[in-house]
Formats: sequence, structure tokens, C-alpha cells
Amino acid sequence: MLNDTTLAFIGSGTMAEAMIKGILNNGLTDPHRIIASDPRLERGPELEELYGVRSTTDNKEAAQAGDIIVLSVKPQVLPFVLHDLHGLIRPHQLIFSIVAGARTETIARGLRHGAIVRVMPNTPAQMGEGMSVWTSTPEVTEKQIAQAGAILQALGKEIYVEDEDALDMATALSGTGPTYVFLMMEALVEAGVYLGFSRRVARKLVIQTVLGSVLFAEESGKHLAELRNMVTSPGGTSAEAIYQLEKGGLRTIVSKAVWAAYQKSRLLGEMSSKRGHRGTSLLESPGIPTEGLEENE
Ligand SMILES: NC(=O)c1ccc[n+]([C@@H]2O[C@H](COP(=O)([O-])OP(=O)(O)OC[C@H]3O[C@@H](n4cnc5c(N)ncnc54)[C@H](OP(=O)(O)O)[C@@H]3O)[C@@H](O)[C@H]2O)c1
Repeated sequence: MLNDTTLAFIGSGTMAEAMIKGILNNGLTDPHRIIASDPRLERGPELEELYGVRSTTDNKEAAQAGDIIVLSVKPQVLPFVLHDLHGLIRPHQLIFSIVAGARTETIARGLRHGAIVRVMPNTPAQMGEGMSVWTSTPEVTEKQIAQAGAILQALGKEIYVEDEDALDMATALSGTGPTYVFLMMEALVEAGVYLGFSRRVARKLVIQTVLGSVLFAEESGKHLAELRNMVTSPGGTSAEAIYQLEKGGLRTIVSKAVWAAYQKSRLLGEMSSKRGHRGTSLLESPGIPTEGLEENE
């Protein structure tokens, strides 16, 4: 699928590495067809040694070599990368952005280039079990769509959406989703410790319970409420626990949390679209509240 295609990673951190690993594990291309750019001097040699890919500290060199240019930097770094690469991207090249909150129109304006795929992946991509939601601009060709789909399938599951706004919704649900799951798991482990289990045993019980429940839900294909009813005997322990969870407003608080994450994603997108392509960022301007933004990106 990507045999005659070179991939250039601009930013070679956690997600870029997850993508490189997935692409190579799935045999989509050869390591020498991947070039990873990162300002950290030791990062390139590290990736070269681990995966046999090429590396550089020069974003322009990587971008010029790539047929698919993956933007995998943090959102606050993106304006500088767009400034660096402005006007350098050739018509046949595809921009593949995983930068949270960065809208395709911002990237198109910043690079003066139309063909863009925008993806919201999530952390389990590192295990090949990610959930990616993605969209593309009209300039992206059918071949590039197929290539982008193949890359995302190497990271787990993927869903293509026409409407870019769905990426903000996905950011709140699946992009931020592992946070909710980890917090719930952490709370359960602590509850186990409160009962008297060691942390090690409580962790094992919780992880296997979550893993088993997920597999059961997926394989049975049953409605989640039906699965829950199956383990809730009248007057039993589950019914007692559920009564307390509902009394504590679990569903409402989960819904409010997801809504808040959605609003924050939209706000970050709006702010990044107001950043100038010359590297100026409203995040750095006086009068824009920056507190807490970076931790949430
Ligand atoms: N991690 C996730 O699960 C996840 C999920 C969804 C979306 N995303 C998005 O994916 C993107 C990357 O996230 P990540 O977790 O992989 O972040 P990361 O591990 O911090 O990787 C970003 C890399 O970019 C490098 N970098 C900094 N300035 C650069 C520049 N000017 N040019 C090129 N590279 C530069 C960083 O180097 P230094 O370390 O030296 O700064 C770092 O190695 C973010 O936009 C994030 O929103 C991540």
C-alpha cells in the first residue's frame, strides 16, 4: 500500500513512534522509506537503532523527502512548524496531521497547501489498539485516502467522518477517553485497597475485569444495558452498588465531563485558527487565558 511512498514525521515523540511501530509491524513500508525529524539530538539515533528508519533534526529536509508528511508535534509548537514549512510543500504531497485541535483550514493557510488529512487518534494506538477518527480535505486523492486509512488501521480501528466538527466530538469521547477509563480503574483499585487487598492484587483484579468486560461487550454485540442487567440480580450486590453510583450522579457527571472536554477542544481549535502562520500564537498574547490549556491538549 505504501511501498513506493516515503513518510516524513515532523516531531518524533510518543505518537510518531507508535505510528512508525504500527506501520513497520504491519509491513506497510520499509524502514528506509521513513524519515523522522526532531530537534532533540538523541531522538533520531534512538529511532534509527530501534526501527532502522532515517532521521534528521531539520524539518525542511524531512518534509522535502516525504510523500506523506505527518505533523506530530504538540499544538503549541505547530505555528512554528507551519512557519518553517510555509510554501515548501509540493502539490503531490499529503499532510497528515494528528495535532489536537488544529483545523485543516489553519494548516492549509499556514502551509499554503490543500491536501490534508486530519486525525484524532488515542493513546492505545501505542499497542495497536487505538481508535482514530479522521477526515480529509477535497484535494486529497483516492490513493491518498486509501494510504491514510491503511496507516490508521495499523494503529487499531478507524472511522472516517465527512464533518470536521465530529473530530472535536471524537476528541472528547475517544481522544480523551483513556483518561476516563484510567481514572475509573484507579478509583476501583483504591476501593479494593480500602477493602483490604494489596495494590498488586487489586490492580490485577481490576485490569482483568475491565479487559474481560470489554471483550465480552465486543464479542456478544449485546446492548450495554442488557449486559449490565445480566450481572444485576434483584436484591444482589450489583444492584446495591448501582444504587450508590446512580445516587452519586455518575451518568450526569460523565456526561458533563465529556461535554466540558468537547467545549475545550472547540476553544483550542478556535484559538489555533487565530494564530498567525508566521509563528505568532494567541496562546502567547496577553489577554488570552492560558492557564491549564497546555495540560489539556
Ligand atoms: N499522545 C497521545 O495519545 C495523543 C492522542 C491524540 C493526539 N495526540 C496529538 O499528537 C501530537 C503529538 O503528541 P505526542 O504525545 O507524540 O507528543 P510528544 O511525545 O511530546 O512528541 C512531540 C515531539 O515533537 C518534538 N518537537 C518539539 N518542537 C519541535 C519542532 N519545532 N519541530 C519538530 N519536532 C518538534 C518534541 O521534542 P521535545 O521533546 O524535545 O520537545 C517531541 O519529541 C500532539 O499534537 C497531540 O495533541 C496525541
